Amino acid sequence: MQTNKKHSQTPERYAQRLRFFAGLLLAMLFFTGCTTDDDEPSNSQQDSTTSNHSEEAQSSSQASVDEAGSKVIVTPAASSTDWNLVLVNKENQLAEEIAMEIYLTESGYPIDSRIQEPYLQLLEAGKAAGMDFTMISGYRSIEQQQANYDVNYQNYLAAGLSEAEARAKTEEYIALPNASEHTTGLAVDITATALANQEGNSGLFPDLENYPEGLWLKENAPKFGFVLRYPKAKEAITGINFEPWHFRYVGIENAVYMTENNLTLEEYVAILKQNETIGNSEQ
Ligand code: DAL
Ligand code: ZN
Repeated sequence: MQTNKKHSQTPERYAQRLRFFAGLLLAMLFFTGCTTDDDEPSNSQQDSTTSNHSEEAQSSSQASVDEAGSKVIVTPAASSTDWNLVLVNKENQLAEEIAMEIYLTESGYPIDSRIQEPYLQLLEAGKAAGMDFTMISGYRSIEQQQANYDVNYQNYLAAGLSEAEARAKTEEYIALPNASEHTTGLAVDITATALANQEGNSGLFPDLENYPEGLWLKENAPKFGFVLRYPKAKEAITGINFEPWHFRYVGIENAVYMTENNLTLEEYVAILKQNETIGNSEQ
């Protein structure tokens, strides 16, 4: 009988069985460790099909840890140096103009030709959904951004603000001349035509968020690779006030991931850089 057999096994046989199970356990532990390493999102190994990572991004079981205790966070396959993730802001200013092939949109605003298709697809999908968009801006040279800045600054001075106040007010919405991502050709300002047509209104109005066009863009732009670049409650990170009209091309997977995880480009690029640092230290 089974029970008798078990009870009748010799100490030697019992020790053999113990050694076998201990070996099995060690092998399983080793295998698990290898699998975790394989899943590490180094640049070349990340799962390019993953886009919904709200949970994975915070899951320690999906992450490996370096010696300093930093965790690799699972992201789409992307590198902080990818052309569509170029970070331009006050801390990351452009030294000079970026060479690019231009596509001239129907509104007469130029954009980087690499985003022509996604931009047209975005507009087309919006139109099909009954949206009426007006494009307000695309690529702007450093010189144009300087002019933009100066007009706003002078207007605030004329309204009686001090130089420091005028600078601060201007910079709520206008990036410094070398710090505008419009200069990358990867950003577009799109508003509701109803808003753009209002007299004395540039169309760039925070209230756009309550218009069907603003709501539609916020929800659907990521599907075409664009993120709402300056969201509410992230002003301290982006350095720019909420702009429901400013969309930045980052690629579909990045855009969906960033939106689902409520990440600004500053935060996303920081995660990628941290992952890359951990990946390099483990090589
Ligand atoms: N309005 C955005 C921040 C710019 O000036 O580039
Ligand atoms: Zn803009």
